[in-house]
Amino acid sequence: MKKFKFIDLFAGIGGFHLAMEQLGGKCVFASEIDKFCIERYKENYGIDADYDITKINPEDVPEHDVLCGGFPCQTFSKAGKQKGFDETRGTLFFYIEKILIAKKPKYIILENVRNLVSHDNGNTWKVIKKHLQSCGYRLTEYPLIISPHQIGVPQLRERVVILGIYDPENVDKYLNIELGKLKEKNDNSIDDILETDNYEKKYKITKQEERVLSAWDEFYKMIDLKVIGFPIWADYFDGHMEEDFPQWKKQFIEKNHALYVLYKSSIDRWLKKWKIYETFTPTQRKLEWQAGDSIESLWDGFIQFRPSGIRVKAPTCFPALVAMVQVPIVGKYKRRLTIREAARLQSFPDDFIYDNNDYQAYKQFGNAVNVDVIKTVSEALFNYKESE
Ligand SMILES: C[S@@+](CC[C@H](N)C(=O)[O-])C[C@H]1O[C@@H](n2cnc3c(N)ncnc32)[C@H](O)[C@@H]1O
Repeated sequence: MKKFKFIDLFAGIGGFHLAMEQLGGKCVFASEIDKFCIERYKENYGIDADYDITKINPEDVPEHDVLCGGFPCQTFSKAGKQKGFDETRGTLFFYIEKILIAKKPKYIILENVRNLVSHDNGNTWKVIKKHLQSCGYRLTEYPLIISPHQIGVPQLRERVVILGIYDPENVDKYLNIELGKLKEKNDNSIDDILETDNYEKKYKITKQEERVLSAWDEFYKMIDLKVIGFPIWADYFDGHMEEDFPQWKKQFIEKNHALYVLYKSSIDRWLKKWKIYETFTPTQRKLEWQAGDSIESLWDGFIQFRPSGIRVKAPTCFPALVAMVQVPIVGKYKRRLTIREAARLQSFPDDFIYDNNDYQAYKQFGNAVNVDVIKTVSEALFNYKESE
């Protein structure tokens, strides 16, 4: 498609908007209810997105070629299975459907969480499929599952994308959309999105965090075990356990005790040197090494301080942004992921103006779609040709 018009529903900060624009699209309508997202949308694209999808008249939505939207995954009423009851009524999907019925855009691109297909024992996807088909859309049999790491962006974030073409005569025939060769997790490197200089002081880890991580780095280098298959838990080096501990915990404790016995004198020295029991919090006394033997030092990985302990991963891919309540630390720079880097993980361009409030900014990027993922699947959709 050369030039086309699109609408952006559940618009957030416009991941779909950027993807469509980069493919030649012009936004004619956007709908969003979050005050901060509406402000960012206006600031970045000059469009007022302040429309609640549940309150608009579908007839008032401008004509468009492509309908985009990442709608919340909700359970459709079980009562819907009874005859004569509209099962989508009341869900946000229902409002998309109303626009499709009124405007019949040629293409639909809908994004959702990974488990949409298995959600409610497969019923959610069945209902969505049935409704979209009855609106006149041809679909793929199952939604496409795709993650940014498969197209060279170092983030593991599997999402489903539902693609459809308006073709009421052929709704029974599935689209056979292929994405070509995709990359593996280890084909990526977080260096691709890192800012190497110019980041603000606020991203630096604290003195205590640095101390805690230095201690664990020393610990890791001290033991011969390079692939650690269990959390190292300083609180259980002595092997004490209660009767009612669950089995998994008892096993971890046994392994920790065995490790302690093996390296007793070094570990004792280490405990004393770093005053582990006196100065580390309980969660700082636990290490989850998930980097295999891919790195030799904790400082070569990226690290998260989680309620369950300190987690270290290989520097190939970041976890899905949405789960980033604890913003990851880039080991080699001893600082947290910057907001600009979070934007890059979602393939937002460097001139995108993000929220002044850090919490809002991380949250908005965490909720967004990855721009390049949407571009990749949309190109496959727009160029779709039937193979005989
Ligand atoms: C997962 S986010 C979508 C993010 C977006 N795709 C992006 O790239 O930034 C879902 C959005 O739907 C919005 N939303 C929820 N209910 C809505 C409604 N009734 N009308 C319009 N938007 C709504 C939320 O505020 C939220 O920002």
